[in-house]
Amino acid sequence: MRRLRLLTAGESHGPAISGVLEGLPAGLRVSTALVDRDLRRRQHGYGSGRRMLIERDRVVWTAGLRFGRTLGSPLGFRVDNLDWPNWAERMSVEPLPDERRPKPITLARPGHADLAGAIKYDTDDVRDVLERASARSTVARVLAGAVARQLLAANGVRIWSYVEQLGPVRAFPDAADSLAAVPADWPARDLRVPSPLRCPDPDAERLMIAEVDACAEAGDSIGGAFVVVAEGVPVGLGSAAEWDTRLDAALAAATMSIQAVKAVGIGEGFAVAGMRGSEVHDEVDLGAASGGWERASNRAGGIEGGMSNGMSIVVRAAVKPVSTLRKPLGSVDIVTGAPGKAHIERTDIAIMPRAAIVGEAMVALVLADALLTSFGGDTLGDLQAAVRRRRGRTGRPASSLG
Ligand SMILES: Cc1cc2nc3c(=O)[nH]c(=O)nc-3n(C[C@H](O)[C@H](O)[C@H](O)COP(=O)(O)O)c2cc1C
Repeated sequence: MRRLRLLTAGESHGPAISGVLEGLPAGLRVSTALVDRDLRRRQHGYGSGRRMLIERDRVVWTAGLRFGRTLGSPLGFRVDNLDWPNWAERMSVEPLPDERRPKPITLARPGHADLAGAIKYDTDDVRDVLERASARSTVARVLAGAVARQLLAANGVRIWSYVEQLGPVRAFPDAADSLAAVPADWPARDLRVPSPLRCPDPDAERLMIAEVDACAEAGDSIGGAFVVVAEGVPVGLGSAAEWDTRLDAALAAATMSIQAVKAVGIGEGFAVAGMRGSEVHDEVDLGAASGGWERASNRAGGIEGGMSNGMSIVVRAAVKPVSTLRKPLGSVDIVTGAPGKAHIERTDIAIMPRAAIVGEAMVALVLADALLTSFGGDTLGDLQAAVRRRRGRTGRPASSLG
């Protein structure tokens, strides 16, 4: 990111998850209730483990706000882990005598950070690695993303998401594109009362729930896919000028950085490999009603040449099944070399509804950064004025601008 900087800290069972978001303009009204709402959304989803019943994530601001508005200084925040007292000894910050130290975890889970991390950090206790690799750290991303989302909303951008696939079950299986079948009131409904798996197709969701139940029964886990949509993005965020200024590249990296995401597509994504140009590209039109640039389709997912093109930005992500299995896979003890079964940690079975909320946050952070990079501004007012100017010049062809 070029203008915003996010640094996060915190172990899964440590005292807190904390962070600093730097680069926000002054004068942005930040609603604590909306931040807590996104933290709550990150905790929701059928197939989540018991940890989510323990935690009640709420933000504690530590810097950067006065009377509810940003000061332009770094925004500091913290979310306390309510589970911490149960882990105070096992995760002791201070040294402990050997007899009080917990038994080290030595059987790495295939698919998790355990083995590579234990070798990298030269530890014989996998907990030293898994505590930070755990997706508990996404609390900080969702929190910062909730602030970025408010900056975007103040500039006419709205972000939402849904679960498109869980294992073999797809939302709207008869539709060529599931996004086109999502009801218009879905984003508002999802904010009010999210459905169990945050899937907008109720028939598919029933089958998805049955899949999760079957996995729970079998001691297994299951993967899937989610879609994040950003509406109202002004034209020209990102640039074609350099490889690391492309908006699609930044969105892909940020989405791929979410634990367990293994593939990211913009618009049609992987499907374009099997299509002809005439089936892929979105014809340009001058809308009869609006008199502005329009496209009847959006297979590009709102980005051409590394820049937003004014259509909705569509990011798809494939999520692998989580690696902690209640019927564990084979592993080898990292200390003795003896074969055994992988360590079992309290775990989710399916994470798509929650990963999608992290996806919203990452898309919000990248778009907020791209907005500030393109339009600058020490204050929200400066930024809004520049965004309005851009919107004014992209609604109509230049010849009609008098
Ligand atoms: C919201 C969310 C919740 C997750 N919950 C679990 C979990 O309960 N158990 C687990 O083994 N992995 C879980 N993961 C995935 C692991 O964090 C991830 O697989 C691990 O850190 C290794 O990274 P990698 O899958 O990207 O290689 C979760 C991921 C996300 C995004």
